[in-house]
Amino acid sequence: MGRYATGVARFYITTPIYYVNDAPHVGHAYATVNADALARWHRLIGDDVFFLTGTDEHGAKVAEAAAERGVAPAEWTDITSERFRGAWRGLEVSNDDFIRTTEARHHATVQEFLQRIYDNGFIELGTYRGLYCVSCEDYYTEEQLVDGKCPVHGRPVIEMQEDNYFFKLSAFEQRLIEWYESAPDAVRPAGKRNEALSFIRGGLRDISITRTSLDWGVPVPWDERHVFYVWYDALINYLTAIGYGHDEERFEEWWPAVHHLIGKEILRFHCVWWPAMCMAAGIDPPAHVFVHGWLLVGGQKLSKSMVAARAEEGEGLAKLTEIAPELLTSDFGVDAVRYHLLRDTPLGTDGDFSYESIVARYNSDLANNLGNLVSRVATVVGSKCGGIGPAPDADSPLRPAAEEACKSASDAWERFAPHEALEATWRLIGAANAHLEATEPWKAEPGPAVDAVLGSALEALRIVTLLITPAMPETAEAIWARIGLSGSPGGERLPDAAAWGGYPGGLAVEKGAPLFPRRKP
Ligand code: MSP
Repeated sequence: MGRYATGVARFYITTPIYYVNDAPHVGHAYATVNADALARWHRLIGDDVFFLTGTDEHGAKVAEAAAERGVAPAEWTDITSERFRGAWRGLEVSNDDFIRTTEARHHATVQEFLQRIYDNGFIELGTYRGLYCVSCEDYYTEEQLVDGKCPVHGRPVIEMQEDNYFFKLSAFEQRLIEWYESAPDAVRPAGKRNEALSFIRGGLRDISITRTSLDWGVPVPWDERHVFYVWYDALINYLTAIGYGHDEERFEEWWPAVHHLIGKEILRFHCVWWPAMCMAAGIDPPAHVFVHGWLLVGGQKLSKSMVAARAEEGEGLAKLTEIAPELLTSDFGVDAVRYHLLRDTPLGTDGDFSYESIVARYNSDLANNLGNLVSRVATVVGSKCGGIGPAPDADSPLRPAAEEACKSASDAWERFAPHEALEATWRLIGAANAHLEATEPWKAEPGPAVDAVLGSALEALRIVTLLITPAMPETAEAIWARIGLSGSPGGERLPDAAAWGGYPGGLAVEKGAPLFPRRKP
C-alpha cells in the first residue's frame, strides 16, 4: 500500500472493465459491490481511496453484438455502457471514476504505453493461426477445448489466421518467476498464485496482440492497418485513469500500489500477461491481484450467452432474467442485496445464487437480528427513558464484544474477506440482543440499571452502524439518525470512532418503521 510522507495510506482498487455486449447482471454486481465495500472500508479508516470501474468496449464480441442489433458499435457501446453506470448507481457504488475504453484519454494512453513496449524491442511481426472463441476474445489449443468447443462458453471456436504483431511474453518467463518469488502476496488467494505460477513454469508462448480483421479497436501507432487486440488495450485502462503518460506525478502517486479485484477466468491475463506488459514498458507490476470465484445458478456461470442458450432451449429464461440487479433491488432494497452479495459468497470461492438464499439471509440476519435490535432498543428507550437515549456503561459486558467485533472486522476487511467482517459485526449484534434478553429491561422499573443496559445497547448499535457502513451505507445512515446522532457514519474515522463510550447519551431516539420487515420464506 502506498503511503504519503504524512503516513496516510493510499488504496487504489479496480474492478475488471465489463464487456458491453450485453446488460449488467448479478454476477457483475457481485464483483462490483465487493470492490465498493472494500473502497468504502478504506475511506472509513481514513485512507486516500481511488476506486475505478468501467466498460471494455472494443473487440469482435462487442462489434458482433452491435451488428446483431443493426446499430453502429459506437452507438451500441454508448447505450450499454450507460446501463452499467446506471446499475452501479442503483447499487450505491461509490466509484471515483468510470472509464470507457473508447474514450480519447484511453486511446492516447494505450498508444503511448504500447509504443514504449515496441521501442523497447518486445513487439514484433508474425503470423498467427489458431482456434478462437469470440465470446472469450481468446485463442485455445486443441487440447483445451471440451468436445471441440470453448471450455468456458460451450460455443464453437473458429479457425483464424492473421498477420499479427506479437508481444514477446516468452522473454519474461524468468522475470515473472522471480517476481512471484519476491512478492508472495502479489496474487491471492494462495491457490490462485500457485495456478498462475505453474502456468508460467509450464512455459510461455508469445502472444498475438493486434488484429487486421476488424477495425473496432485502438489503432497501432506504428502500423495503422492494425488495431490492438481487445485484451491488450483493456488491461491498460488501469493506467489511463491514473494519468500514465500525461500526469507523471499522479501516476507515481497511485502506481504500483493497486489492488485488482478479478474473476477467476481472467487470471492469466492479469497475473501473467499484465505484469509482463508492465515489465516490458519499464514500470513496476501491480502490487496485488485478488482473484474471486463465480456466482453460479444451478452450477453454471451467469452470462448473456447462457441466457440466450436457455432461451433457445425454451427453459429457464424467466429464472435467469429475474436476476438483473435492479430487479433484485426493487424487491429487497439496495442494502439487502448488497449484504447478500457480500455475506453469502466468500471472495475466493464459487457460490450458488438463489432467490431462496437471499430470503433466508434477509430474514435471519436483517429482519431478526439487526432490524430487531434497532426496533427493540428504540421501543424500550421510548417506554422506559422517555425516548431519550442514556449514556453507555463503561463496564458493560458488551464492551469486550464490541472490541472483539471491531478488531476481527477490521482484520477481515484488510484480508479482502467482507463475509468474515460481516460475520464479526453480526456477533456483536447477537451479543447485544442476548444481553437485552438476559436483562429484560422492558420488565424492569425505570432507573440507573435500566439506563445502563439501554445506553450500552445504544452504544453497541452505534458501533455496529459504523461497521456496516461499507456494506450497507443507506441503512447505516438511517440507524445513525434514529439513535439521534448527527452527521453521517461515513464521515467518522475508524478505529478511534468505534472505541467504546462514543455514544453521548441525552439524544432523542426515534422508533420509526421496521427497517427490514420479515419476508415470507
Ligand atoms: N472485459 C473483460 C475484463 C477486462 S479487465 C481489463 C471481461 N469482462 S466480463 O464482463 O466478461 O467480466 C468482467 C468480470 O465479471 C470478470 O471478473 C468476471 O469474472 C466477472 N463475472 C462475470 N460473471 C460472473 C459471475 N457469474 N460471478 C462472479 N463474477 C462474474 O472479462
